[in-house]
Amino acid sequence: MGKKKMSGCLYGVMSCIVTVVGLNFMNLGVNGNSIGVNWGTQATHPLPGNIVVGLLKDNGITKVKLFEPDPYALKALGKSGIEVMIGIPNDLLAPLSKDVSAAESWVSKNLSSYVSSHGVNVRYVAVGNEPFLKTLNGTYDAMTLPALQNIQSALIKAGLANQVKVTIPLNADVYETKSNVPSGGDFRSDIHELMLQIIKFLSDNGCPVTINIYPFISLYNDPNFPADYAFFDGFSSPLDDNGKTYTNVFDANYDTLVWSLQTNGFSNMTILVGEIGWPTDGDRNANPNSARRFNQGLVNHLSAGKGTPMRPSGPIDVYLFSLIDEDNKSVLPGNFERHWGIFNYDGTPKYQLNLGLTKVGALIPPKGVEYLEKKWCVLSSSANLNDPRIGSSVNYACGQADCTSLGYGTSCSNLDAKGNISYAFNSYYQEQDQQDKACQFPDGISVVTTKDPSAGSCRFIIQIKSDPAADELNSATHSSAFFHLLFLMFIIAVTVL
Ligand SMILES: *[C@@H]1O[C@H](CO)[C@@H](O)[C@H](O)[C@H]1NC(C)=O
Ligand SMILES: *[C@@H]1O[C@H](CO)[C@@H](O)[C@H](O)[C@H]1NC(C)=O
Ligand SMILES: *[C@@H]1O[C@H](CO)[C@@H](O)[C@H](O)[C@H]1NC(C)=O
Ligand SMILES: *[C@@H]1O[C@H](CO)[C@@H](O)[C@H](O)[C@H]1NC(C)=O
Ligand SMILES: *[C@@H]1O[C@H](CO)[C@@H](O)[C@H](O)[C@H]1NC(C)=O
Repeated sequence: MGKKKMSGCLYGVMSCIVTVVGLNFMNLGVNGNSIGVNWGTQATHPLPGNIVVGLLKDNGITKVKLFEPDPYALKALGKSGIEVMIGIPNDLLAPLSKDVSAAESWVSKNLSSYVSSHGVNVRYVAVGNEPFLKTLNGTYDAMTLPALQNIQSALIKAGLANQVKVTIPLNADVYETKSNVPSGGDFRSDIHELMLQIIKFLSDNGCPVTINIYPFISLYNDPNFPADYAFFDGFSSPLDDNGKTYTNVFDANYDTLVWSLQTNGFSNMTILVGEIGWPTDGDRNANPNSARRFNQGLVNHLSAGKGTPMRPSGPIDVYLFSLIDEDNKSVLPGNFERHWGIFNYDGTPKYQLNLGLTKVGALIPPKGVEYLEKKWCVLSSSANLNDPRIGSSVNYACGQADCTSLGYGTSCSNLDAKGNISYAFNSYYQEQDQQDKACQFPDGISVVTTKDPSAGSCRFIIQIKSDPAADELNSATHSSAFFHLLFLMFIIAVTVL
């Protein structure tokens, strides 16, 4: 997920909001469906770019979507042949909309130079990220189309418009259906005219429309959403739309867009699914089993050689959300937000997933990852749980580091109070590269151990070595996790004290 995603799907009501990603099914080749991945870099310790590109290649992944023109990612992608979509964050839409020369500078600095000097296979520019989300209150409505037009003009001027197509990743809340079935699909009334202008511009220039679809969010936001309908293994009360049968919300959502386009005279638009996936932690519905069920179901659905009821011959192009966990993402959407990866923070596979892109038939771990020493920071055995300093220490640790694996329904919900405190301490210690002073909480309540405190599904991590090249990019856009941490800290403090 790029930023915030909201979804208010009632069952059967296709005005849902669901977000999706892209997969590039080269090897399946059944009907040209393809699977790519979103490579986000909001981690405190991003994997080195060359290791990530090795990971992509070893896993047969040939399409990648970036949220920004991260220099370290783009340089590593040079000469790899991997197709790249480069994102433009929403906060650049205003300057890019006002002035075509700003768009020309953007293309020159953030795109052409990587194509010409590094041999990066750039194929798309994603202008903005879900700029028409209802929760953004129309902030970007007036500037998105002019920014899109200016970027397109700049691509033409740079001689790249044949190779590089523009698009806008849209949240699925840009369309809705009043009849509760896909055939009633149309664009949201407050942006109806705007959407038609955008679709016409994309259509005139041979560019795709990109949509993010998130069944997980439907389930997260609506306790009455039928879980089976979020997945792909059949559903006992399928939706009937004039003889077309829907057993999963992905197809229904996708076809609501197809109908919205068709109703307005654009039946032939190419559709990319810019984000789709399932998180593995931070919520009761987020775990490796459900993530595997969803992602494997999606892959099998794509590889079965069928499209959706409205586009039965496909192709369906998706970019999975996401490649690797990001421990510095904003948790405003929910604690699950840092856990969308099909790979852990260190690139190790989270679960058995056959993307159908390699002979191995499972995710392959990366090569050459360097870890810090095998040691952890935990609560000292002599510490008194009634010590008031524990609460403030835990608050501090979780305020700086990532404690989203603690709490109801998470991977570390099995921990007792001491385990919770240790988890917080270790999270901070690893985030601080195991510096001695990062395990010196007051009055000796913390201690370094070489005995792995991991228990059951709860993993106490050893962080990887920081990549200096990647650190540069971390000055880029990050939103604050502050509110969530306050909230989480409140829970822990109340529990502990
Ligand atoms: C994490 O994100 C915050 C802003 O949300 C940013 O200030 C900080 O530099 C980031 N930390 C790292 C290590 O990337
Ligand atoms: C290139 O992209 C970065 C990251 O989005 C942005 O901060 C910068 O302003 C862009 N450069 C130009 C010249 O537009
Ligand atoms: C949108 O409006 C609501 C209600 O007025 C407000 O709470 C929210 O902060 C606004 N969001 C943005 C992104 O401006
Ligand atoms: C859509 O494109 C196909 C193939 O290019 C063409 O045969 C068909 O007539 C088009 N349909 C419409 C409605 O434009
Ligand atoms: C551990 O922390 C979590 C999240 O703050 C809390 O829900 C849980 O009750 C705590 N467990 C114990 C035994 O204190």
